[in-house]
Amino acid sequence: MNRRYRKTIIAGNWKMNKTASETKKFAEELKTLLPKAKWCDVVVCVPAVNIPAAIKAFKDMRVSVGAENVFYEKSGAYTGEVSADMLKDLGVKYVIIGHSERRQYFGETDVTVNKKVHAALEAGLHPIICVGESLEQRELGITMELIALQVKSALAGVPAEKLRRCVIAYEPIWAIGTGKTATAEQAAEVCTFIRTTVRHLYGARIARSITIQYGGSMKPSNAAELLAQPDIDGGLIGGAALKPGEFVDIINAANQE
Ligand code: PGA
Repeated sequence: MNRRYRKTIIAGNWKMNKTASETKKFAEELKTLLPKAKWCDVVVCVPAVNIPAAIKAFKDMRVSVGAENVFYEKSGAYTGEVSADMLKDLGVKYVIIGHSERRQYFGETDVTVNKKVHAALEAGLHPIICVGESLEQRELGITMELIALQVKSALAGVPAEKLRRCVIAYEPIWAIGTGKTATAEQAAEVCTFIRTTVRHLYGARIARSITIQYGGSMKPSNAAELLAQPDIDGGLIGGAALKPGEFVDIINAANQE
């Protein structure tokens, strides 16, 4: 973390978990546990149908609500899809784009990720752009090339003034939901590389101000060490974000001086 130059953001990614009533219950429990002093921004990304319930439930808690996906067209004949304007109108602030599960199961590509980033920014949302390598790619030694390609494609055509609203999440696919976490060194190496890639594209000042998260089995026991890395400015958390107690423990780790 480096609070002097950029925000620390702890974001939960609920994936396809929790009903609207469970969302309300989670918020009530979280409220009793959240620390008073707050250094980091807290975001909860929920399934699309739970957004109205989440907006209501987290209203007085300084917890922002995020979506887990968005479609890139503004409106039209796209059965089942949700536009960025629809999310914005509900009060959504963040949207996860290009999560590896969407790339793997729903055919998202670097090209659709880029279109979604543009649509989100256009609507005034803050995209959380996910990048990350598979185990095979890591073993082949092509992690950095792949990450550079994902970052450059996602940001293609994004002007500097809009980049300030983007968050990049480094999520090694082999660490997601597997209980295997990247070591702090592995995570830091790639997050630093992402910042260098952004610096080459946008210059030092902007690169210094962008929030880069780590995601992949982040939990109370490893959060502090990961967040102590200067280029890791927060976490995108799946499993541990479903339990208010664990989520708050991670928030507390991000609140350390
Ligand atoms: P995990 O998920 O924390 O359960 O590994 C992270 C993510 O997919 O964003």
